[in-house]
Parts: sequence; structure tokens; C-alpha cells
Amino acid sequence: MAVAILLVGGFGTRLMPLTKNTPKPMLTVAGIPVTEHQIAMAKAAGITEIVLATSYLSEVFIPYFGDGSKWGMKIKYAVEKEPLGTGGGIRNAAQLLDSDQSVVILNGDVLSSHNLAEQIRQHESHDADVTLHLTQVEDARAFGCVPTDSNGRVTAFLEKMENPVTNQINAGCYVFNPRVITAIPLDTVVSVERETFPHLVASGAKVFGYVEKAYWLDIGTPRALLKASIDIVKRSGEFLAMPGAGIDPTAVITGGSCIGSNSSVGAGAVIDGSIIEAGCVIGPNAKISDSFVATGTEIKNNVKITSSFATNNEILPIP
Ligand code: GDD
Ligand code: MG
Repeated sequence: MAVAILLVGGFGTRLMPLTKNTPKPMLTVAGIPVTEHQIAMAKAAGITEIVLATSYLSEVFIPYFGDGSKWGMKIKYAVEKEPLGTGGGIRNAAQLLDSDQSVVILNGDVLSSHNLAEQIRQHESHDADVTLHLTQVEDARAFGCVPTDSNGRVTAFLEKMENPVTNQINAGCYVFNPRVITAIPLDTVVSVERETFPHLVASGAKVFGYVEKAYWLDIGTPRALLKASIDIVKRSGEFLAMPGAGIDPTAVITGGSCIGSNSSVGAGAVIDGSIIEAGCVIGPNAKISDSFVATGTEIKNNVKITSSFATNNEILPIP
């Protein structure tokens, strides 16, 4: 059995203004926070104990997830007063885990349907130091580039390079041997991508790749977040309405849109390919397409919003 740490402390800069009051992992995809999708994924792999490594807007996670019992999990919270980076965040969170089990680390902004249980199994059968989930993308420049040899051993870790040596990338889900975490200094800003992984590879540690090309998406950009939600909603229909959503029968909702819990949609409103978060009021005859409407936003009658972020204070075009 393994335990897990979710890295949810980043600023979510590319998703401003949506991330002004909501940390990126708490933005919803198909009606539930990204973190909740990840908790379900970890649970399916047999994990029952998770630490959320929080920093920016840490106070938002606790009221939603509580002690985790609602999900049949034990959830704890580690808070970094100042962000400690991915490595420092892992080290800080690991203090709440009292075990010698494998530790699964999940970047908090990734949706993946790869076989985590198999990744853990391979890690343990290799007696590896770290096993990284690797996938392939067309343009690797925004990711960690991770070449492997014929045995699956990682030969280099190259974070965000201009001329990628391979399109095989770090998918943001790792299994760590706990002794590797203990070796990270406490209360120090450390990046696993720029320091820990390159150092481990250079020193001959057993760093393996687990290559699986299942559905995978980093939701760190507005287009990706929208795509993730639409993809999931479209698996079961044209749109998704969460519990308590009230939709006028004359409203037209299409393109994998999601209407958050307790939101209302007025008569004649048209919503296409959009995420409406919880507690919003969409006025009669409003037209919203390819857009995000933040939690609790009121959109007035007849307003037209295309490819934008909408909050109560502003409507900004998605870059
Ligand atoms: N607790 C904590 N503290 N979490 C942090 C901190 C911190 O100081 N900094 C970042 N995180 C969290 C973010 O919230 C996010 O969930 C995760 O760590 C990764 O940070 P991003 O800022 O999203 O990194 P990225 O998308 O540019 O690149 C990372 O993910 C790619 C895959 O999506 C890297 O791991 C790449 O190598 C990887 O390819
Ligand atoms: Mg990211």
C-alpha cells in the first residue's frame, strides 16, 4: 500500500482572474474540483491516506475536503507559509506521513487516467528510488523532457527546454521511495524538476520511467482547463447539471458545458462549451460560449460573453 502527497500550492498565474480567490486545483472540471478527480484516482489505486501540500489560498481546501471521510480517505493538510517549491513542499508534507511505504506524488493540476496501481507495482519490483509517469506530447517545450534507455531507466531530466531532445515528458505523477524524500532539506525552497531529479540521475540513483499514454491533460492553461471539462462531460451527454442547478426549460445548453451546483440559468439563455461554476445566476437571454464563469458570478439579462473569463468584477478575454 502507498500513501500520497498532492502538490496544490502553486499560484495558478496563467488562470488569473479565476485563481484570484480559488486555487487552481479547486477550479472545477465536469462539476468537481480537479483535486477531487485526483483523490478518486488515488483511491482507485488503493491509496487511503493523502496529504495536501498547500500554500497559496490554503484555507480553501480544508472546508471542502475536511478529514476526507466523505471520500473514504484520510486527508491531512501541510501548509507552507511561503511556497517551498515542489521539492520543499514534498519534504514539508512528508512530515505528516509516518510510514515507510512508497509515496505517490501528484502535481495538482493534472488529469490522468493512467494505471497508477501498475506504476506503484513496477516501482516496487524495481526497488527504484523514483518512478516517473511519462507520456508523449507534440510540443514538449512547456514540460520536463525525460529520455529513457531500453530498460526504462531515466537518462536525463531536462525541465522546459527550447529544443526538446524527445517528446517524452514528465506527466507529473511520481512514486518515491521515502528515503529519497528524507534526503531533501527541510524548510528550504527546492524544485524536484530542476534539482532533485537531475541530481538523482547524475548520481546513478535508480530513476525509472513508467510510460503510459492514457488520457492525460495538464489543466494549467485556460484552453486546457476548458477542454478537460468538455471532454469529460461529453462522455455522457451534451451538458452536465450539478445538484441544485436550476435550468429554465427554454435555455439551450450544448457543447459539453457544465452548470455548477446551485447555479440558475434563465429563460432563453444559450450556453455552449463553457464552465459555469457553483452559485452563479445566468440571466434570461444571456449568451455564453467557450467561457468560464467564476463561482457566485451574476450575468445580467441579454449579456453576450465569448471566449472570456467572467467574474463579478470583470469580463476578460481568454489569452
Ligand atoms: N505545495 C506547493 N508548493 N506546490 C507547488 C509549489 C510550491 O511552492 N509550486 C508549484 N506547486 C504545485 C502546483 O500547484 C502544481 O500542482 C504542481 O506543483 C506543478 O507546478 P506547475 O507550476 O503547474 O508546473 P508546470 O505545469 O509548469 O510543470 C510541471 O508539470 C508538468 C506536467 O504537467 C513540471 O513537473 C513538469 O516537469 C511537468 O512536465
Ligand atoms: Mg502545471
